[in-house]
Amino acid sequence: MKRPVKATLPALILGFAAVTTAMSADLPPYRRADLPVAQRVADLLARMTLAEKIDQLTQRGLDDSNPNNVVRRATELRPTYGSFMTAGNLAVRNALQREALTQTRLGIPIIFGADVIHGYRTIFPIPLAEACAWDPDLLRRADHAAAEEARADGVDWTFAPMVDHCVDPRWGRIAETFGESPYAASVCAAAAVTGFQEGPDGIAACLKHYVGYGASEGGRDYSSTEIAPQRLWEMHLPPFAAGIQAGALTVMSAFNDLNGVPASANAYTLTEVLRHRWGFSGLVVSDWGAVEQLIRQGYAADEADAARKALLAGVDLDMADGVYREHLAALVASGSVPAEAVDEAVRRILRVKFDRGLFERPLVEPSALTGAAPTPAHLELAEEFAVRSMVLLKNSGVLPLAADVRRVALIGPLADDRADLMGSWFQQGRAEEVTSIAAGLRDRLPVGTSLEVAPGCALDGGGREGFDAAVALARASDVVVLCLGESAGMSGENASRSSLRLPGRQLELGLAVAAAGKPLVLVVVSGRPVELGALEPKAAAILAAWQPGTRGGAAVADLLTGRRNPSGRLAVTWPRSAGQIPLYHNMRPRARGGTYGEYQDIPTTPQYEFGHGLSYTTFVYGPIRMSQTTVAPGGTLTAEVTVTNPGARAGRETVLWYIRDPVARITRPLRELKHFESAELAPGASRVFRFAIEPERDLSYPDADGHRILEPGEIILFAGPETAEFRVAQ
Ligand code: GLC
Repeated sequence: MKRPVKATLPALILGFAAVTTAMSADLPPYRRADLPVAQRVADLLARMTLAEKIDQLTQRGLDDSNPNNVVRRATELRPTYGSFMTAGNLAVRNALQREALTQTRLGIPIIFGADVIHGYRTIFPIPLAEACAWDPDLLRRADHAAAEEARADGVDWTFAPMVDHCVDPRWGRIAETFGESPYAASVCAAAAVTGFQEGPDGIAACLKHYVGYGASEGGRDYSSTEIAPQRLWEMHLPPFAAGIQAGALTVMSAFNDLNGVPASANAYTLTEVLRHRWGFSGLVVSDWGAVEQLIRQGYAADEADAARKALLAGVDLDMADGVYREHLAALVASGSVPAEAVDEAVRRILRVKFDRGLFERPLVEPSALTGAAPTPAHLELAEEFAVRSMVLLKNSGVLPLAADVRRVALIGPLADDRADLMGSWFQQGRAEEVTSIAAGLRDRLPVGTSLEVAPGCALDGGGREGFDAAVALARASDVVVLCLGESAGMSGENASRSSLRLPGRQLELGLAVAAAGKPLVLVVVSGRPVELGALEPKAAAILAAWQPGTRGGAAVADLLTGRRNPSGRLAVTWPRSAGQIPLYHNMRPRARGGTYGEYQDIPTTPQYEFGHGLSYTTFVYGPIRMSQTTVAPGGTLTAEVTVTNPGARAGRETVLWYIRDPVARITRPLRELKHFESAELAPGASRVFRFAIEPERDLSYPDADGHRILEPGEIILFAGPETAEFRVAQ
């Protein structure tokens, strides 16, 4: 006999919520799921008191006992607040949601946010690494997997993707960016937004940090940013536009002072651009404490002034500092803030809540993913992404490791490390679930090949006491795999570094191990490009592993043993030293050529160029073929290039299509990436890669106020080693 189903409290409330919003006639309009969102918003807004409206504009941390929490307000957890940052505990999240539903006058559900940046429990490579895979669909799938895991823990909204533009790797948050190409970052932004938001398990995405934060002066986090308006439109704004085009529901306003007007009080970017030009209808949340910080930045006299300026500029939801909650009522009463400004902010927040179905499905039922360890499918996806994101920077032939290699020495502070492979913002990721490089190699080296591990030195600080053992191990081996780099805490937020040098005694260790005279494979685990210095010429091969996530060690082993063929390409320029910064592929030309303007003390070229990446096979490019040599505005010119894999093993090639406009009203970058396509080529296979050029989309550029300019004249086209020229007709 079937046992009666025991209705759990959440199920009852779920049922109650569903019933109360599904039925029609006798419910207030805002509770009727059959009515248009605009009507529901209008009805609910009309019922709200000013105090209830202001609470909706307030976001708090769920864990207000956190000593790092800047919130100085009373730590009551008011269920009338619009949003909370959740800490991955479904029961706590649902309990607070039930209070909001049953113990408040209007029962407006809370939207719970969290930083789900590159995975939730299954950790994928850091975004800078993800961008090196040149595969937006893979990014979409990874971010959707993260959304599924986060949703199961009660997260409704992620503060991602971060789409800042940065060409200064001293800034720790370069790790969170999708690299230096505004085009590539735009493609990633759209893919990430879709991945996070799509389907019933989707969560709202948040484009951040709007805008210009990646230009923090000197790479010092939270610093002011001086960005010429034309560069703001050319480099910083495009990924936000692309993310909004993809349907992003929220945007986060940034910390940085943008040319004298902080981004979290900048009416030009927050209202003129975001609302009037782009028609964005979602909500803007401030970054943590960014409203209160207007005081320190010298833009607001006090908290009330800060609240007024941020709200009137276009910040709807105040994260963490409680300034809206403290001051908006008085500001409205005094007439300093029009009541309509509060209403418009509340409308935007309610629209997102209705859009996400929070009024119909306010509670999250526990599922198999709730609090669960990563599933095999997610781990497989994480390993695939880690393999695809790693970049083979150098290879003299020592890789893949030859079958007759019998003794491998694995040396370095990151050789058997797990936590640091997750990088910053690792959410609910657990070090004990990470595959270290040592574990990956143990699992994938051929039977009969020995692996011995020696850390050699600490990741940072420490002495040389481990050098002798490491050098002795190197001497006794056939090949040395040297794992150097950064800790997870050396990049991400508030992790600026004045130099890119390897921390501690790692370079010394590397040189001492190299002196043992055995073939040296350098694996770099880092959140940014690092200075390789004197070690670079001594390494027979160099693999940029970045911070590859839960399956990082397995991916490194797959690549070193040749089970997989490297295919990553740099999405960021790799400088020789911090002294070269800023150094990026899409710079404007120097006034003089040749050695004029070059450094006297080091080469001016990067250590490795944007787009660089090697394979275990080669790819031969044929000449670029064009459908015509002139294209008129409104027309299309199709460029093709045939790429062949003459090698004995399959490999994935990414064709990067660049343009150069040699003469223009506003000088144009040396190269602008405008299209890319990635495909696997079997041994001996050829494939035609195509770029359908649309002049308005691909050949125009913004002026200082974002208006597109398309000029007649010559355009140079690049694909791999090939170039071609065509003209834009009058
Ligand atoms: C932090 C970060 C931002 C993050 C937010 C919530 O200060 O700047 O990226 O989403 O606060 O944690």
